[in-house]
Amino acid sequence: MKKVIALLLCLVMVVSMTACSGGKDKETSGGSKEGSVDVGIVLPTKDEPRWLQDQDKFKSVIGETDYSVEVLFSQGSSANEKTNVETLISKGMKVLIICADDAAAAAASVEAAKEAGVTVIAYDRLITDTKAVDYYVTFDSVAVGEAMGKYLADNATGSGNPLYLYAGKATDNNAFLFFQGAWNILQPKIADGTFVIKNSSEAVALQDKATLTREQQSAIIGQVTTNWDFNEAKSKAEAHLTNVTAADKGKVYVLAPNDGTSRSIADVFAADADVSQYFITGQDAEIASVQYVIDGKQSMTIFKDTRTLATDAMNMAIDVINGKTPATDTTYNNGVIDVKAKQTPIVVVTKDNVKEALIDSGYYEASKFTGLK
Ligand code: BGC
Repeated sequence: MKKVIALLLCLVMVVSMTACSGGKDKETSGGSKEGSVDVGIVLPTKDEPRWLQDQDKFKSVIGETDYSVEVLFSQGSSANEKTNVETLISKGMKVLIICADDAAAAAASVEAAKEAGVTVIAYDRLITDTKAVDYYVTFDSVAVGEAMGKYLADNATGSGNPLYLYAGKATDNNAFLFFQGAWNILQPKIADGTFVIKNSSEAVALQDKATLTREQQSAIIGQVTTNWDFNEAKSKAEAHLTNVTAADKGKVYVLAPNDGTSRSIADVFAADADVSQYFITGQDAEIASVQYVIDGKQSMTIFKDTRTLATDAMNMAIDVINGKTPATDTTYNNGVIDVKAKQTPIVVVTKDNVKEALIDSGYYEASKFTGLK
């Protein structure tokens, strides 16, 4: 209700789009003061469809506000990110909404913002080891990992099922939360023999541990990271399949950390003559992966409704500007402080509920897909 009121109170403004390159990629809404910015939004990269979805949703939210908003992309570089934050500070930004490229490296950027009196909202990815984060708007990332683990576990019968683990980028705190969630569900199934890990000696060495320390997670993630990179995911999967025997293939189970990497890894497993069937996870409901799910090439994805995240973040920023305390429902420890957070649930999408979850909800138009039932 609060959200609706906040948005209704705002006037519809014309959004002007500018497309530049590198760290200067930006989108602005008209503001009251020429050249000034009330809310600065910094997103990690335009090279992954996930962040284009967020940009798109921010565009709709920005279109409904009379505050001046500028969105900048960091293109996978912490240096660009710092420059972006400094640019926004120089324009008088009051609130920064930032999805960090690197959780620890971003600390310097947000500390500079805090020093300039800016309120900092971490968006989707937590910024670690700094006190300079006021709020965190996020999906339930442990639940994302648990949903992936559960999907694999629910589809496995008998024992000795080959399991291949992949993870996100180690400088992204979410990679740890996703892995932690997946481990919560998969570890008991590894311990009871349902699954046998085939591609990580570090995970095998820790497979008796129900919970892992950050260091132990690091050891596994370091070995099976995709770095959120499609090509790295592909070459790792190829190397893993080359290193095992036909007996380690057959019907296999693959924990893939997101949609982009899932499609790469799925293509590798699909091309291996000794793989008779594979179950593979993903997240983000990227258009290409939704099509893969419809076509039976990716088993599931996780719908993270970026409409909710963008709206929550903007409403939080508007509350801050109006001197109100934003509503939060949990906290996340960033290594130094407990950051007040607003958390959004996630939805598991398989072939069976694509239409209901993604089309009927108005997130995508049916015309984007073929073979949809
Ligand atoms: C996000 C995922 C995304 C990944 C790679 C994570 O922090 O939560 O949705 O797939 O980064 O960009």
